[in-house]
Order: sequence, then structure tokens, then C-alpha cells
Amino acid sequence: MTAVIAAEASAPAKIILFGEHAVVHGQPAIAAPISALRAFALAVPAPPQTGLIIDTADLGERLVIPSYGEPADHPLARAARLALAAVNVTGVDLAVTLRSQIPIASGLGSGAALTAALMRALAGAVGNPIEDARLNDLVFEIEREFHGTPSGIDNTVVVYERAISFVRGQRPALLTVGQPFNLVVADTGIRSSTKEAVMGVHALLASDPAGTQSVIEAIGGVVHQAQAAIARGELAALGPLMNENHRLLQRLTVSSPELDRLVEAARAAGAQGAKLSGGGRGGNMIALCPPETEAVVSAALLAAGAQRVITTRVEAHA
Ligand code: PMV
Repeated sequence: MTAVIAAEASAPAKIILFGEHAVVHGQPAIAAPISALRAFALAVPAPPQTGLIIDTADLGERLVIPSYGEPADHPLARAARLALAAVNVTGVDLAVTLRSQIPIASGLGSGAALTAALMRALAGAVGNPIEDARLNDLVFEIEREFHGTPSGIDNTVVVYERAISFVRGQRPALLTVGQPFNLVVADTGIRSSTKEAVMGVHALLASDPAGTQSVIEAIGGVVHQAQAAIARGELAALGPLMNENHRLLQRLTVSSPELDRLVEAARAAGAQGAKLSGGGRGGNMIALCPPETEAVVSAALLAAGAQRVITTRVEAHA
């Protein structure tokens, strides 16, 4: 049995900054970590013969994984085995507790973050940390096995904790961020199906191919401009680009009255720009805020019906 030590690890949530929906049709998108919202894993040595126990405090699950047992079909059990195999360990006596601040099924990458935190804690506990590039591949493997056809956005953002640009079918690229910037993220509290919103855009393309395609390409143009502005640290350009992206998403029918209300409330309270984020028709929106307006914008979003508001900072990176 492999010797183990206590190890703790975490990984952040992710949010799409620009380009959702158009990315399904070949345009680039930009995503960033929400460092203020995280999944945590704590691994501690367990008595001999215990095997691996994973307690998911928030999800109310307890997984017992015998040291040399059947192939695991639970995503977290499978993730644990994959991580241990990656560091050439087959049997351990460890108790892992997972906690997450990230709401599930709301486009914030909670699954990828839990998987990354679990894998990091396990590798740390056996004294053999996994480097990020390898971890990214392993988390993607779990996403692929359990979440259909993932784009690779979630695992890349949560593992590297970096803003990325992404084109479907290509490997995500880490972004240069010239100046840090702050976002307020607000949840409408309305759960909505990304799949249905994506199908809505397909329907629009079928009924008005030329008009819809021009909106999709316009979003692609906004994403290119946003990527350049982020790289150069030209934050004044970003707000108007977010507003333009939101307007174009409205034309794709993926906004909603609740999202529009939050977007308008954020702008009226002093945000430099605001837009829906992710699948739309519910879910989250983001607002770009200089630090001095964050509190006012957050209060305005709550007053306008937001169920949860958090503030996060996208850090500068060469
Ligand atoms: O809600 P999220 O973060 O899972 O993002 C959905 C993004 C879409 O472009 C709407 C769909 C997709 O598969 O890219």
C-alpha cells in the first residue's frame, strides 16, 4: 500500500466572457476563471484496509472505492482511479472530502472543478503532484466520459485558472491579459436548458439563414476585438463590446426578460458593460465594474431580482 500524507487542493468555477452560441457555429469564444467561487478537496490518511472513501459533503454522497475493486462508473470514482493510475498508484487508504461553492448545472463548470480538485488532492496525498498539462487531459477525459461532447473550455479554464480563447475543434489557448479587471456575476435563479437555447439558434438559422449568420459573424468580430483589448489592457473598450455582444445575443433569442433586467440594472448602476453569460434564457449574467462601483452594482442587481451575486477578478498574465 502506498504511503500517504494529508493534502488539500482546489479549483475555480468558469464563466464565458464573450462568444457563447456563436462558438457552436465556428466563431471564437473567451472564458475566464471565477477565482472567488471554488471546489475544494481534502485528502487525509485513512486506517489500513479502508481503501478510498470520497465524501461529497454538499451533494450528500459517500463513495467507497475498494483499493482493487470493480471499474468505477461514478464520475468522481472514475476520476479518482484515473488520477491514481496517472501517478502509478493502485491502492491507497485515503478519505477525501469534497466541498463546492459552485452551483451545479448552471454553466459554471462545477463538474470540471470538482474533478480537478479531487485529482490534485489525490496526487498530492501520494506525494506525486500532476502537472497542469497532464491534469487538463485527465479532467477532459472525465468530461468526455460523463458529459457527452464537451468543448474543452471548462477543464482548461479550471485547471490553469487562466482566461482562454477557444475555437471549436481546436485546443483552447491561454490568453494574454494586459490589465486585471473585475466582474460582478449575477444569477437570475432561473434554470434553463443550454441545449434548448442552442437548438433555438439552430431553428433561427433554418428560418433566416443569412440574417442569423450575419449576427453570428458579428459576434465573432466582437470576440476578436475583445481579445485584442484584453491583451492590451484597454479595459475602456471592453464594456461597450460586452454591450454589443449582449445585443447580438438578444437577436439570437437567447436572452430573457430577467437577464435583460439585470443587464440594464448593472449598466444603470455604473457598470462599464454587461451581458448574459453561457447558455442564456436564464442562468448568469456578468458586468464589468471598476472596483469603486462593485458594491453599488451588486446591490442594484440584487434589487433587480438576482438570486446570487459574486465579485471576481480576472488576473493579468503575460
Ligand atoms: O452555459 P455554459 O457555460 O455551459 O456555456 C454554453 C455555451 C454555448 O455556447 C451556449 C454552448 C456550447 O456548447 O458552446
